[in-house]
Amino acid sequence: MFGIKTKILKYLIFHQQEKSKKLSNDLRITELMNFFEADEFGHESNIKNADLGYGWIHYGLLRQIKAKKILCIGSRYGYIPAVLAQACHDNGFGKVDFVDAGFGDEIKKEGKSSWTGKGFWKTQEGKDHFKNFGLENNIQLFVTTTQKFAKKYKNMSYEYIYIDGDHSYEGIKTDFKLFWPMLHEGGLMLLHDISIKETLPEGKYGVWKLWEEKTNKNKIEVNYLGSGLGIIQKQSNR
Ligand SMILES: C[S@@+](CC[C@H](N)C(=O)[O-])C[C@H]1O[C@@H](n2cnc3c(N)ncnc32)[C@H](O)[C@@H]1O
Repeated sequence: MFGIKTKILKYLIFHQQEKSKKLSNDLRITELMNFFEADEFGHESNIKNADLGYGWIHYGLLRQIKAKKILCIGSRYGYIPAVLAQACHDNGFGKVDFVDAGFGDEIKKEGKSSWTGKGFWKTQEGKDHFKNFGLENNIQLFVTTTQKFAKKYKNMSYEYIYIDGDHSYEGIKTDFKLFWPMLHEGGLMLLHDISIKETLPEGKYGVWKLWEEKTNKNKIEVNYLGSGLGIIQKQSNR
Protein backbone atom coordinates (compact mmCIF):
# COMPACT_ATOMS: atom_id res chain seq x y z
CA MET A 1 0.00 0.00 0.00
CA PHE A 2 2.78 2.38 1.07
CA GLY A 3 4.65 1.47 -2.13
CA ILE A 4 1.76 2.45 -4.40
CA LYS A 5 1.32 5.81 -2.62
CA THR A 6 5.02 6.58 -3.02
CA LYS A 7 4.91 5.63 -6.70
CA ILE A 8 1.88 7.91 -7.32
CA LEU A 9 3.56 10.76 -5.47
CA LYS A 10 6.78 10.29 -7.46
CA TYR A 11 4.74 10.23 -10.69
CA LEU A 12 2.93 13.46 -9.78
CA ILE A 13 6.15 15.21 -8.75
CA PHE A 14 7.85 14.10 -11.98
CA HIS A 15 5.03 15.51 -14.12
CA GLN A 16 4.91 18.72 -12.11
CA GLN A 17 8.66 19.15 -12.62
CA GLU A 18 8.33 18.42 -16.33
CA LYS A 19 5.55 21.03 -16.62
CA SER A 20 7.58 23.63 -14.77
CA LYS A 21 10.38 23.15 -17.33
CA LYS A 22 8.09 24.33 -20.15
CA LEU A 23 8.57 27.81 -21.56
CA SER A 24 4.84 28.46 -21.36
CA ASN A 25 2.46 28.47 -18.40
CA ASP A 26 -0.32 25.96 -19.13
CA LEU A 27 -2.56 27.23 -16.34
CA ARG A 28 -2.55 30.84 -17.58
CA ILE A 29 -3.06 29.62 -21.17
CA THR A 30 -6.10 27.47 -20.36
CA GLU A 31 -7.53 30.23 -18.16
CA LEU A 32 -7.18 32.73 -21.00
CA MET A 33 -8.60 30.34 -23.60
CA ASN A 34 -11.60 29.50 -21.42
CA PHE A 35 -12.25 33.08 -20.34
CA PHE A 36 -12.22 34.41 -23.92
CA GLU A 37 -13.94 31.30 -25.35
CA ALA A 38 -11.23 30.40 -27.86
CA ASP A 39 -12.67 28.96 -31.06
CA GLU A 40 -10.68 25.74 -31.29
CA PHE A 41 -11.58 24.96 -34.88
CA GLY A 42 -11.08 28.49 -36.19
CA HIS A 43 -7.64 28.89 -34.66
CA GLU A 44 -6.35 25.28 -34.83
CA SER A 45 -6.16 25.42 -31.04
CA ASN A 46 -6.94 23.04 -28.18
CA ILE A 47 -7.98 24.33 -24.77
CA LYS A 48 -7.45 21.04 -22.89
CA ASN A 49 -3.85 20.82 -24.10
CA ALA A 50 -3.16 24.53 -23.50
CA ASP A 51 -2.46 24.78 -27.22
CA LEU A 52 -2.99 28.33 -28.50
CA GLY A 53 -2.98 27.23 -32.17
CA TYR A 54 -2.69 30.36 -34.33
CA GLY A 55 -2.40 32.21 -31.02
CA TRP A 56 1.19 30.93 -30.79
CA ILE A 57 1.99 32.75 -34.02
CA HIS A 58 0.48 36.03 -32.82
CA TYR A 59 2.11 35.72 -29.41
CA GLY A 60 5.50 34.71 -30.80
CA LEU A 61 5.56 37.44 -33.43
CA LEU A 62 4.67 40.17 -30.94
CA ARG A 63 7.22 38.94 -28.40
CA GLN A 64 9.86 38.92 -31.13
CA ILE A 65 9.15 42.11 -33.10
CA LYS A 66 8.22 43.93 -29.87
CA ALA A 67 5.48 45.99 -31.49
CA LYS A 68 4.12 48.84 -29.42
CA LYS A 69 1.08 49.72 -31.52
CA ILE A 70 -1.26 46.93 -32.56
CA LEU A 71 -4.64 46.98 -34.26
CA CYS A 72 -7.04 44.05 -34.02
CA ILE A 73 -10.31 43.88 -35.96
CA GLY A 74 -13.09 41.47 -34.95
CA SER A 75 -13.48 38.68 -32.42
CA ARG A 76 -16.45 36.87 -31.01
CA TYR A 77 -15.43 36.85 -27.32
CA GLY A 78 -11.89 38.26 -27.45
CA TYR A 79 -9.56 35.28 -27.82
CA ILE A 80 -6.98 36.69 -30.26
CA PRO A 81 -7.21 40.28 -28.91
CA ALA A 82 -6.46 38.81 -25.46
CA VAL A 83 -3.46 36.85 -26.78
CA LEU A 84 -2.13 40.06 -28.36
CA ALA A 85 -2.70 42.00 -25.13
CA GLN A 86 -1.03 39.22 -23.11
CA ALA A 87 2.02 39.41 -25.41
CA CYS A 88 2.19 43.19 -24.79
CA HIS A 89 1.84 42.56 -21.06
CA ASP A 90 4.67 40.00 -21.16
CA ASN A 91 6.86 42.34 -23.23
CA GLY A 92 6.28 45.01 -20.59
CA PHE A 93 4.92 47.49 -23.17
CA GLY A 94 2.54 47.83 -26.07
CA LYS A 95 -1.15 48.44 -26.60
CA VAL A 96 -3.85 46.82 -28.70
CA ASP A 97 -6.64 48.88 -30.25
CA PHE A 98 -9.43 46.33 -30.61
CA VAL A 99 -12.25 47.31 -32.97
CA ASP A 100 -15.50 45.36 -33.20
CA ALA A 101 -18.91 46.73 -34.11
CA GLY A 102 -20.51 44.27 -31.68
CA PHE A 103 -22.75 42.92 -34.41
CA GLY A 104 -25.21 40.18 -33.50
CA ASP A 105 -28.37 38.77 -35.04
CA GLU A 106 -30.02 42.23 -35.21
CA ILE A 107 -27.91 43.10 -38.25
CA LYS A 108 -29.79 40.49 -40.31
CA LYS A 109 -32.77 42.89 -40.45
CA GLU A 110 -30.58 45.21 -42.51
CA GLY A 111 -29.69 42.31 -44.81
CA LYS A 112 -26.11 42.16 -43.44
CA SER A 113 -24.12 39.44 -41.66
CA SER A 114 -22.57 39.61 -38.19
CA TRP A 115 -19.94 37.12 -39.39
CA THR A 116 -20.74 34.93 -36.35
CA GLY A 117 -20.56 37.90 -33.96
CA LYS A 118 -22.84 37.53 -30.93
CA GLY A 119 -23.35 41.18 -29.99
CA PHE A 120 -21.10 40.61 -26.97
CA TRP A 121 -19.08 43.86 -27.18
CA LYS A 122 -22.21 45.99 -26.82
CA THR A 123 -22.98 44.46 -23.41
CA GLN A 124 -21.52 45.68 -20.10
CA GLU A 125 -19.89 42.26 -19.63
CA GLY A 126 -18.16 42.72 -22.99
CA LYS A 127 -16.98 46.22 -22.11
CA ASP A 128 -15.47 44.99 -18.80
CA HIS A 129 -14.13 41.73 -20.20
CA PHE A 130 -10.41 42.57 -20.57
CA LYS A 131 -10.40 44.36 -17.20
CA ASN A 132 -11.91 41.29 -15.55
CA PHE A 133 -8.94 39.28 -16.81
CA GLY A 134 -6.37 41.90 -15.77
CA LEU A 135 -5.37 42.95 -19.30
CA GLU A 136 -6.94 46.42 -19.34
CA ASN A 137 -3.58 48.24 -19.44
CA ASN A 138 -2.68 46.58 -22.73
CA ILE A 139 -5.91 46.79 -24.70
CA GLN A 140 -8.64 49.29 -25.53
CA LEU A 141 -12.01 48.29 -26.95
CA PHE A 142 -13.70 50.42 -29.65
CA VAL A 143 -17.27 49.32 -30.28
CA THR A 144 -17.68 50.73 -33.75
CA THR A 145 -17.39 49.76 -37.40
CA THR A 146 -14.01 49.72 -39.07
CA GLN A 147 -15.16 52.45 -41.45
CA LYS A 148 -16.09 54.80 -38.57
CA PHE A 149 -12.93 53.95 -36.63
CA ALA A 150 -10.66 54.64 -39.62
CA LYS A 151 -12.39 57.95 -40.28
CA LYS A 152 -12.18 59.11 -36.65
CA TYR A 153 -8.57 57.99 -36.09
CA LYS A 154 -7.16 58.58 -39.55
CA ASN A 155 -3.75 59.61 -38.18
CA MET A 156 -3.20 56.36 -36.28
CA SER A 157 -0.38 54.04 -37.34
CA TYR A 158 0.46 50.48 -36.35
CA GLU A 159 3.26 47.94 -36.49
CA TYR A 160 0.94 44.93 -36.42
CA ILE A 161 -2.60 44.70 -37.82
CA TYR A 162 -4.83 41.63 -37.54
CA ILE A 163 -8.12 41.50 -39.48
CA ASP A 164 -10.91 39.06 -38.61
CA GLY A 165 -14.04 41.18 -39.15
CA ASP A 166 -16.25 41.31 -42.24
CA HIS A 167 -15.27 38.18 -44.20
CA SER A 168 -17.00 39.03 -47.48
CA TYR A 169 -14.76 39.97 -50.43
CA GLU A 170 -16.09 43.55 -50.37
CA GLY A 171 -15.66 43.70 -46.57
CA ILE A 172 -12.04 42.54 -46.45
CA LYS A 173 -11.19 44.68 -49.47
CA THR A 174 -12.55 47.74 -47.68
CA ASP A 175 -10.68 46.92 -44.47
CA PHE A 176 -7.45 46.28 -46.35
CA LYS A 177 -7.80 49.64 -48.10
CA LEU A 178 -8.58 51.41 -44.83
CA PHE A 179 -5.77 49.94 -42.76
CA TRP A 180 -2.87 49.15 -45.11
CA PRO A 181 -1.90 52.86 -45.21
CA MET A 182 -1.82 52.83 -41.38
CA LEU A 183 0.76 50.03 -41.33
CA HIS A 184 4.39 51.03 -40.72
CA GLU A 185 6.97 50.07 -43.31
CA GLY A 186 8.28 46.70 -42.23
CA GLY A 187 5.05 46.14 -40.26
CA LEU A 188 2.92 43.01 -40.46
CA MET A 189 -0.68 42.59 -41.57
CA LEU A 190 -2.39 39.29 -40.76
CA LEU A 191 -5.66 38.03 -42.25
CA HIS A 192 -7.73 35.24 -40.75
CA ASP A 193 -9.71 32.69 -42.81
CA ILE A 194 -7.70 32.91 -46.05
CA SER A 195 -8.53 29.25 -46.79
CA ILE A 196 -12.33 29.28 -46.57
CA LYS A 197 -13.84 29.41 -50.03
CA GLU A 198 -17.34 28.22 -49.19
CA THR A 199 -20.59 30.01 -48.55
CA LEU A 200 -21.47 29.18 -44.94
CA PRO A 201 -24.66 30.14 -43.03
CA GLU A 202 -23.00 33.48 -42.10
CA GLY A 203 -22.22 34.38 -45.70
CA LYS A 204 -20.02 34.02 -48.75
CA TYR A 205 -16.37 34.07 -47.67
CA GLY A 206 -14.03 36.19 -49.77
CA VAL A 207 -10.80 36.69 -47.77
CA TRP A 208 -9.17 33.94 -49.88
CA LYS A 209 -9.83 35.98 -53.04
CA LEU A 210 -8.18 39.13 -51.73
CA TRP A 211 -5.30 37.01 -50.43
CA GLU A 212 -4.76 35.50 -53.90
CA GLU A 213 -4.75 38.97 -55.44
CA LYS A 214 -1.91 40.12 -53.20
CA THR A 215 1.32 39.52 -55.04
CA ASN A 216 3.70 40.95 -52.42
CA LYS A 217 6.94 39.04 -52.14
CA ASN A 218 6.83 39.09 -48.34
CA LYS A 219 3.76 36.90 -47.97
CA ILE A 220 3.48 33.81 -45.78
CA GLU A 221 0.56 31.42 -45.64
CA VAL A 222 -0.08 29.40 -42.49
CA ASN A 223 -2.57 27.07 -43.99
CA TYR A 224 -2.94 23.66 -42.42
CA LEU A 225 -6.34 22.03 -42.31
CA GLY A 226 -8.71 24.73 -41.22
CA SER A 227 -9.24 28.44 -41.61
CA GLY A 228 -5.81 29.61 -42.70
CA LEU A 229 -3.80 32.60 -41.58
CA GLY A 230 -2.09 34.96 -44.00
CA ILE A 231 0.82 37.21 -43.07
CA ILE A 232 2.10 40.07 -45.25
CA GLN A 233 5.02 42.31 -44.45
CA LYS A 234 4.84 45.84 -45.81
CA GLN A 235 7.93 46.76 -47.77
CA SER A 236 7.02 50.26 -48.91
CA ASN A 237 3.96 52.48 -49.19
CA ARG A 238 2.57 50.53 -52.14
C1 LIG B 1 -16.96 36.90 -34.74
S1 LIG B 1 -15.51 37.48 -35.54
C2 LIG B 1 -15.05 36.05 -36.39
C3 LIG B 1 -14.75 34.97 -35.37
C4 LIG B 1 -13.34 34.99 -34.89
N1 LIG B 1 -12.55 34.12 -35.77
C5 LIG B 1 -13.12 34.55 -33.46
O1 LIG B 1 -12.27 33.69 -33.22
O2 LIG B 1 -13.75 35.08 -32.54
C6 LIG B 1 -16.19 38.65 -36.64
C7 LIG B 1 -16.46 39.92 -35.85
O3 LIG B 1 -16.31 41.00 -36.74
C8 LIG B 1 -17.20 42.02 -36.37
N2 LIG B 1 -17.45 42.82 -37.56
C9 LIG B 1 -18.00 42.43 -38.73
N3 LIG B 1 -18.03 43.46 -39.59
C10 LIG B 1 -17.46 44.51 -38.95
C11 LIG B 1 -17.18 45.86 -39.32
N4 LIG B 1 -17.49 46.35 -40.53
N5 LIG B 1 -16.61 46.67 -38.40
C12 LIG B 1 -16.27 46.20 -37.18
N6 LIG B 1 -16.51 44.94 -36.78
C13 LIG B 1 -17.09 44.10 -37.65
C14 LIG B 1 -18.44 41.31 -35.83
O4 LIG B 1 -19.09 42.12 -34.88
C15 LIG B 1 -17.86 40.03 -35.24
O5 LIG B 1 -17.72 40.11 -33.83
